[in-house]
Amino acid sequence: MSNSSHKLGTKFIHAGTVPDPSTGAIMTPIYQTSTYVQEAPGVNKGFEYARSQNPTRKALEEALATIENGKHGLAFSSGVAATDAVIKLLSPGDEVIAANDMYGGTYRLFTKIFAKFGIKFIYVDTTDIKNIQAAVTPNTKLIWIETPTNPLMNITDISGVAKISKAAGAWLCVDNTFASPYLQNPLDLGADIVMHSSTKYLGGHSDVIQGALIMNDDALREQLFFIQKSCGAVPGPMDCFLVLRGIKTLHVRMKQHCENGYVVAHFLRNHPKVERVYWCGFEDHHNHDIAKTQMRGFGGMMSFTLKEDSIDAANKVLCATKLFALAESLGGVESLINHPSSMTHASIPREERIKNGLADGLIRLSVGIEDADDLVEDLKQAIN
Ligand SMILES: Cc1ncc(COP(=O)(O)O)c(C=O)c1O
Repeated sequence: MSNSSHKLGTKFIHAGTVPDPSTGAIMTPIYQTSTYVQEAPGVNKGFEYARSQNPTRKALEEALATIENGKHGLAFSSGVAATDAVIKLLSPGDEVIAANDMYGGTYRLFTKIFAKFGIKFIYVDTTDIKNIQAAVTPNTKLIWIETPTNPLMNITDISGVAKISKAAGAWLCVDNTFASPYLQNPLDLGADIVMHSSTKYLGGHSDVIQGALIMNDDALREQLFFIQKSCGAVPGPMDCFLVLRGIKTLHVRMKQHCENGYVVAHFLRNHPKVERVYWCGFEDHHNHDIAKTQMRGFGGMMSFTLKEDSIDAANKVLCATKLFALAESLGGVESLINHPSSMTHASIPREERIKNGLADGLIRLSVGIEDADDLVEDLKQAIN
């Protein structure tokens, strides 16, 4: 089992897993069971019914806590289910300050599901934390940020926002999906909750849908565990096994995502047909200085626009790549290309999208861990 003094690679490989006490199996078994036999009513081994507890999920939840330097982890059936659980901490009349640039499904959950239950969402440009401060009211209960954001790679100062949330008596939740715990640990910077779409870098192989929450506070863990078991959006044991296995290679994969991301971002920036590249590793990226202090690298996620600003021109590129597969999602070993305005962010009204800088022709890349030269060649033949 890993401990807090271990370096990242050791931590990712050993987090949450111990040899199985009954057989010595080095990998945590997939406990494919719905219930557990009790010795007498209320006398059990800590497991009663698998919606509440499962040993494979327990190992994963311990691993999640370890890799985010937190005390508690909770696994959910998707990233959106993890977000859903956080908002269920709130009551009608409570206010949430959220980023105006974030994953479209988060925006949809807030506006189309929770707003009708009387929770108020205020969207601001969180890259300038003064906008967050200005939006605080006595009803502010939660500040929700994503950094870097999907898809514009905007960076928000986590420790700056944590000071505001503490003074306001509100929770700060950071969606850390894009950075992964290899690049950034929001709890260390003062956040109360870290959220992940484990579907992405944690799983890493495009074979599972899952979400995670990590926190330090015992009472907050109890509230979120209560929501997890009461609402029931729990992942199955096989999926927990897959994410546990994914975490073991996170550092190796992320190193390569960062290296390839650097090469592809610079190739695009120097391409005569490319107008703008959004990647937080560029020194002239707005808030690059903040990214440098809160992240250990800049990853393989980026977006770009073409000089010919039309959906047709974007579509031509989106359909021409051979290695970059046209698909939603990100963070897997294989490279993906995506059109946010018609795919991942289609649930945001066009007017809102354009206002927040998400152009119709924006193309998003999840740079995988293939050989960078091949990825560059693929983009070269697609953008011609
Ligand atoms: C940044 C971010 N947060 C949350 C989610 C939702 O996660 P899931 O698809 O696992 O429900 C996604 C999915 O793309 C995402 O990119």
